[in-house]
Formats: sequence, C-alpha cells, structure tokens
Amino acid sequence: MPYLGYILRKIAQNPLHAAGSGWKNLAEYFLDRRIGVSTFRRDFRIMQSTGGDSKPCQPAPYSVMAAMADHMRASGCARKVFVDVGCGAGRPLAYFSSLGFERMVGIEINPAAAELARENLRRIKKSWDKSGGIEVLTTDILASGVDFTGAILYLANPFGRTTMRAFAERLKAQLLAHPEQEILVYYVLPLHVQALLEVFPKAERQSFEGADPWQFLRLSAAAATG
Ligand SMILES: C[S@@+](CC[C@H](N)C(=O)[O-])C[C@H]1O[C@@H](n2cnc3c(N)ncnc32)[C@H](O)[C@@H]1O
Repeated sequence: MPYLGYILRKIAQNPLHAAGSGWKNLAEYFLDRRIGVSTFRRDFRIMQSTGGDSKPCQPAPYSVMAAMADHMRASGCARKVFVDVGCGAGRPLAYFSSLGFERMVGIEINPAAAELARENLRRIKKSWDKSGGIEVLTTDILASGVDFTGAILYLANPFGRTTMRAFAERLKAQLLAHPEQEILVYYVLPLHVQALLEVFPKAERQSFEGADPWQFLRLSAAAATG
C-alpha cells in the first residue's frame, strides 16, 4: 500500500495543511481500492506536444466523476464509445467502466502514464468493469487517427488553448463527414472551453459549479461554424 503510507506521512508532517487535502486524498485512496486501481502517482514528466501546452497528470476527484455519471444516466445517452482525452493513470477509464460502455479508449501522450493506465486497467475488479473492452493509445491527441463521432469525450483539463482549438477543428471535420452523429463532451476544469465554442458556437452547454467545476457540451455539425 505505497500511497497510503505517503498520505499518512504528509498528514503527520503538517497536520493543519494536510487536514483538507490529506483527508480528501485518503478518501480518494479508498475509492481507488474499491475499484482495484492505484491512480495517485503524479510525478510524470510533462510531455512536449504538437500544441506545446500539455498539462501535468493530475486525476480529477471521484466526486466530479460521480456527478458526471449521474448526468450520463439521466440523459439516457448511448453507452457506445467513451474516450478519455489525456487519460493519465487511467482513473476515469476505470471508474466509468461500471457504466457498461461498448468500447473505452484512453489517449495519453506520456508513455509512462499510459503504461500505468494499462497496468491499472488490468487490475480493475471484474465485478466493477461492465465495459466491452478498454485500450490505451500512447499518442498526442492531434496525431491520433481516432474517429470521435458518436463518442462521449472526457477531458480533465489535459491541454491549453492551442491544442483545444486544433482538436475542436478536427472534431468539426469529423462531424461534417458524419452529420447524423454527435459528440458529447464532459470537461472538468473547463479553462479552454472558449476554444471549443469558437468552432461550435451553437453547442448545447450546461455548466456545473463547485470545488471542481465542469461543463457538458453537445457537439454536432449543425452547432459548428459555417
Ligand atoms: C490533468 S491529467 C488528467 C488525467 C486523467 N484524465 C484523469 O482525470 O485522471 C491530463 C493528462 O493529459 C495528458 N495530455 C496532455 N496533452 C496531451 C496531448 N496533446 N495528447 C494526449 N494526452 C495529453 C497529460 O500527459 C496528462 O496525463
């Protein structure tokens, strides 16, 4: 239990500072254990990407993913393909596997993080994983040949404005080629949502505030700029 020791040491070193984040981390640790994974490692190198604006690997809390899972269930969206754009150590892939997606894909630029994600996915408890299969691709999102039409995309602040804008243009091209399809986006800490909206100004959008704000967007060819 390497990360339990780490968290307890932090609490012992600085109890006041650790009171907030330490207990939160401890709760996250036990939620990891419930699924069978270990997603705490954060010391991955930031990789140089095409857009030059990759963010470090930092998993979003389980609480925000639980709110998104409720939203997915309530909206009755098809559980076909789920893509974690910048999947880090694989926490969202592991968590959302309980929703029974036909196929799940993690795309991660950092080979070390991608390898840890694969290791985690091998360890998900069988009783938790209801998905049809999960794979992790080690690549820059802008270099991946993945077709995102019809998928649910999960983004936890993976990169900055430059990459987000280029990614949005790619989504638009794919949707124009398949105008009958949509792409649903769940975006935690949506700092660069404006770059998406410049390309999809008529996208349906819902915002959720709180300690970990997130947004839901429905992208389609009709919502894109002409
Ligand atoms: C904030 S972490 C989120 C990790 C994971 N989605 C989670 O919530 O636990 C962002 C991840 O995106 C990855 N990333 C950044 N830029 C990327 C790019 N251009 N292509 C693919 N992955 C990228 C980073 O390496 C990092 O692991």
